[in-house]
Amino acid sequence: MSIKRKTRELMERREQILQGGGESAIKKQQEMGKMPARDRVISILDENSFQEYDLFAQHEGRDFDMDKKELPGDGVITGTGKIYGSPVCIFAQDFTVAGGSLGLMHARKITKIMDHALKLKVPLIGINDSGGARVQEGVNSLAGYGEIFYRNTQASGVIPQISVILGPCAGGAVYSPALTDFVFVVDKISKMFITGPEVIKTVLGEEISMEELGGAQVHSTITGNAHFYAASETECFEQIKNLISYIPWNNNLKPRKLRPRSPKNAYKIDTIVPVDPKQPYDVRNVIRAIADSSEFFEIQEQFAQNIVIGYGRMNGQTIGFVANQPMYMAGVLDVDSSDKAARFIRFCDAFNIPLITLVDLPGYLPGVDQEHAGVIRHGAKVLYAYSEATVPRITVILRKAYGGGYIAMNSRHLNADIVFAWPSAEIAVMGPEGAANIIFRKEITSAEDPEKMRKQKIKEYKDKFANPYVAAAKGYVDAVIEPENTRDYLLHALEVLETKDVPRPLRKHGCIPL
Ligand code: HXC
Repeated sequence: MSIKRKTRELMERREQILQGGGESAIKKQQEMGKMPARDRVISILDENSFQEYDLFAQHEGRDFDMDKKELPGDGVITGTGKIYGSPVCIFAQDFTVAGGSLGLMHARKITKIMDHALKLKVPLIGINDSGGARVQEGVNSLAGYGEIFYRNTQASGVIPQISVILGPCAGGAVYSPALTDFVFVVDKISKMFITGPEVIKTVLGEEISMEELGGAQVHSTITGNAHFYAASETECFEQIKNLISYIPWNNNLKPRKLRPRSPKNAYKIDTIVPVDPKQPYDVRNVIRAIADSSEFFEIQEQFAQNIVIGYGRMNGQTIGFVANQPMYMAGVLDVDSSDKAARFIRFCDAFNIPLITLVDLPGYLPGVDQEHAGVIRHGAKVLYAYSEATVPRITVILRKAYGGGYIAMNSRHLNADIVFAWPSAEIAVMGPEGAANIIFRKEITSAEDPEKMRKQKIKEYKDKFANPYVAAAKGYVDAVIEPENTRDYLLHALEVLETKDVPRPLRKHGCIPL
């Protein structure tokens, strides 16, 4: 056989596999608003940059007539490609082939590309669209999942891991995305749950749709499992590319530096924060007033909105922003916002991304619900995450910094590198009203006009403590700065912190309160 004929045969074989599960299965998927698996991969990657591996892999299932079934690529596409010129490893489950179910060969293809990503030290992107463990393959499927989970854990903190939920992701299968750093979901397409509606109906007698149980909205707003929500797959792919542009390839590198740009004139920093500490505002506008091009790429936008996390750039360099959001529950720390912030801080620390923290909060959220939900355990994660982080850590206290909230939000006492405060900062054990009621209770109740006395005592307390100067006098605040000079101070601080190098304690790993 001539090489030409052999090449033609290769092309024919390849063409057949590229049909996936066939026309009607693909049509069924498209009717649900889903792209074919290979098109998804190609859409995420730079043009003509995808190189596929293991196209000819075949499953080894023998039971339940599986030996008579051809499963093209065994229901998963794997390979390497580029995003904005940066290399990535990628896999995409193909629901049109046996429901994207995970048999042994399917799992081997995934673990092989995971090993490759870890060896090359480049990000891994996994597109999940699967009916779960391939029922016909029994324990081999479970083995496959276990081997994926193991690799997710080994790769954690070494390479960024991204999961995209573009179909069902059910049962134990959810734990691979759960072990990764960023989970993307798409409206009406993503379905993620441990036990499906049928099991819930049988066991608990409750009726619930897949959407209500574990749809994109649920995971973006309630559970916090998802980090990015999109209305369509195309929007989701743009978000993935954007994320890749902010993060490094691996833990030994810094994110790629872009050309520095000034913030837009539309964001006037000295007009965003109202002086009255009770008046809300959108802290994202402060970030936009500071960041290059006023661009802020928010993460978990709809979950625990009392804290804002995400990426921006300063002088072209990626920065992780953490900011209390006074517009939502006055920006308190609670169970969910603590988890959200702590996880983000740890990712930034693992991947060499400096942190800027903007503080304006009345403290931790009081109440039986929060206490019983474990606000002590969850709140501790923020303290832990900041304290262990060795990347440059800069704080700007905008307004309120009360009680435990003051300490937790990257205070000097947790070894922040530089703490700035605006003249509007109020650093105190608690708000002046609460404080005056406690320490001047006797004077207030025994006064001829208790209300007048209360107001007087509140003012007294406010004059003494509700300012940045007491903390500045003790060196807890490094500089009290004019709001309009914030970006300049931050740029200087980031520059001098470039050479920061702190030894870490010798230990296997810390024991973060999980
Ligand atoms: C084998 C499967 C499969 C599976 C789907 N298929 N899931 N084959 N193993 N787990 C096959 C179907 O038989 C069908 O094949 C094709 O994929 C398309 O499936 P449909 O049911 O027609 O699709 P749809 O109506 O869209 O429903 C999707 C679905 C449903 C909701 C995901 O397929 C489903 O409930 N599947 C089973 C889910 C499940 O219980 N998985 C096991 C979870 S336990 P044909 O040949 O007819 O086209 C688990 C344990 C892991 O995952 C533990 C790890 C620690």
